Amino acid sequence: MSGSTITPWVVGNWKMNPMQSNAKQLIEEFKQLLQQHPILEGACHIGVAPISVALQNVQQQFLDTNRVIYTVAQDLSRMAGTGAYTGEVSAELLKDSHIEHVLIGHSERREIFGDNVEIVRAKVENALNAGLTIIYCVGESLEQREAGQAEQVVLQQICDITSVVKPEQWHHIVIAYEPIWAIGTGKTASPEDAQAMHAKIREGLCQITAEGEHMAILYGGSVKPENAVELANCPDINGALVGGASLNAESFYKIAQAFANTK
Ligand code: PGA
Repeated sequence: MSGSTITPWVVGNWKMNPMQSNAKQLIEEFKQLLQQHPILEGACHIGVAPISVALQNVQQQFLDTNRVIYTVAQDLSRMAGTGAYTGEVSAELLKDSHIEHVLIGHSERREIFGDNVEIVRAKVENALNAGLTIIYCVGESLEQREAGQAEQVVLQQICDITSVVKPEQWHHIVIAYEPIWAIGTGKTASPEDAQAMHAKIREGLCQITAEGEHMAILYGGSVKPENAVELANCPDINGALVGGASLNAESFYKIAQAFANTK
C-alpha cells in the first residue's frame, strides 16, 4: 500500500517561539521566497503553528501571500464550547476566529503538560465536531523503541482516538509520526525506519477506515533541508511537521520545496 498520490503537507511547529518582531520578519522572508519561486497549492499544503496569542496576526500577515498558508493552533481545550474555564480556548472559539487546523497529541503536551489518553481523546472529539482539521501526533520514546515496542505504541495511539472519530470525519485527520527521541535532538529516524513505521500506520488506518489510503502521514523529528529530500522520497511519508527548522524561512521553504518537488 502506498500513499504517494497524496498531496503532501509541510507544517511549521513554532512551539513557544519566537518574539513577535522575529515572527514578522520570518513570515516576510518566507513570503518573499514563495514570491520568487512559487510552490503551487496542489503540490504541497503549507501551514505554520504560532503561539496562540499570535494566531490571528500571523493569519493576517499571510493574507496577501500568492497561495494559501494555513495558520494552525498548537493546542486546544479539552472543554467544548464556551464557559467558565479560565485560560482555555475551545475548538468552537478557534473556529470562530477562522482557525481551521490544530495540532493534537504532540509529545511535549503528552509528556510535560499531562495530556493523557482521555484528554487527547476529548480534544480530538471537540475539534472534529467543531469542523476543524487535526494534525494528530503519535510517536514512541527511545526506551519503547529499544524494547521493540515502537509499532505497538504508535498503533495504540491511533486506536486511542477511533471511538470518537465518526466515519465521515477521518478525512479531517492528518497523522504526524514523531519519534520522541528525534524531536529537537538532531537525530532523525533513517528514511527506512520512518518509511517502515509509516507503512505500518497506513496499514492500521486502512483497517479502521477506507479513508486510510488517502490520509497524509507526516514525519516529524529534526527534519531539515539536508534530510527532507530523502524523507520525501519515501512512498508513505506525505510531508513533515517541522520544529526547529521552521524558525528559519529558508530552511522551512526548502523543506516545503523538497516535498512539493518529490511528490
Ligand atoms: P524538531 O521538532 O523539528 O525541532 O525536531 C518537531 C516537532 O516537535 O514537531
